Amino acid sequence: MEEFANHTVVIVGGAKGIGLATVRLFLEAGAHVLAGDIDTDALEAAVTHLKARSPQAALVGMKCDVSDEASVQALMEAACRPPFLSPPNVVVNCAGILGATGPIDRMDYESWRKTNSVHLDGTFLVIKHSAIVMKRAPWQQDTGVVQRAIVCLASIGGMKGGLAPHPYSASKAAIIQLVKNAAAELVHSNIRVNAIAPGAIPTSMTGIALASDASADGIEKAREHLASHTPMPNRRVGSTEDIAHAIMFLASPVRASYVNAHCMVVDAGITEGGAGPVMPHFSQESWAVPMYDAMGKRGV
Ligand SMILES: NC(=O)c1ccc[n+]([C@@H]2O[C@H](COP(=O)([O-])OP(=O)(O)OC[C@H]3O[C@@H](n4cnc5c(N)ncnc54)[C@H](O)[C@@H]3O)[C@@H](O)[C@H]2O)c1
Repeated sequence: MEEFANHTVVIVGGAKGIGLATVRLFLEAGAHVLAGDIDTDALEAAVTHLKARSPQAALVGMKCDVSDEASVQALMEAACRPPFLSPPNVVVNCAGILGATGPIDRMDYESWRKTNSVHLDGTFLVIKHSAIVMKRAPWQQDTGVVQRAIVCLASIGGMKGGLAPHPYSASKAAIIQLVKNAAAELVHSNIRVNAIAPGAIPTSMTGIALASDASADGIEKAREHLASHTPMPNRRVGSTEDIAHAIMFLASPVRASYVNAHCMVVDAGITEGGAGPVMPHFSQESWAVPMYDAMGKRGV
């Protein structure tokens, strides 16, 4: 029996990177998936690709801007209607941006706020509207207890100084605390809330961070950079699937039923194991200025 058979799973930021890998693994585990993302082209391409691979995949894509309350509310409401069979059992928020970089005395307030609006406001909105629709569903059924789960993406940058840009780190630290607070409250409604703190994983975000390039070339350059700094044998670099598997563990009502208010670090021990950071120091001017320009060109 597939672990998430017929479960309704909402994945925000599901068009690329970690979110896309999570969509794929939940589909393989039998879930019915609603993927939301602001990048509608990437989302359409992802849905088309996944449906071509398995035409029976119960997958719907929907535009969602995680920093816009009406948009997040509409996504959660859509997950409560056919073709979905029940309100969400699992919600995962993978939406994120690298956001503003550079020295703090050169950082403009608008860029600071934009990063926070996607990460912290977005996480608040996802938890809020997940709780609204999850609480509507009966959790005590004839078949037993139906436990629901929310998983949010934090970062090791939210746990240690100097690993990520200022607004990125600050907003991720706030996400870890928001997850703990929400978990303490929502556990009474049988909803668990946990976070994942990944280390550096090659995606379009690390492509921008390490190579000023979000394309497949940039992601490959990021992978090469990470391979030359990894503490693991055989130049082993973390993958989007490594993070997706950890997300699925925390989402599982079978394997993680007693895990709540936790932030799981998935970084090969880089943060706590003394292997040192694999990312450049994000507030150095020499690094930050070309990055700032590259991001400006893309309107990030
Ligand atoms: N890749 C890493 O090294 C790493 C490390 C730590 C944490 N994370 C976190 O993991 C999550 C996923 O990142 P990723 O590496 O897969 O990046 P990614 O750029 O590949 O994917 C991020 C997704 O979020 C979407 N998105 C951006 N803004 C959005 C918005 N306003 N509304 C809805 N969707 C939006 C993007 O379109 C994209 O599909 C992020 O929260 C990121 O901060 C990533």
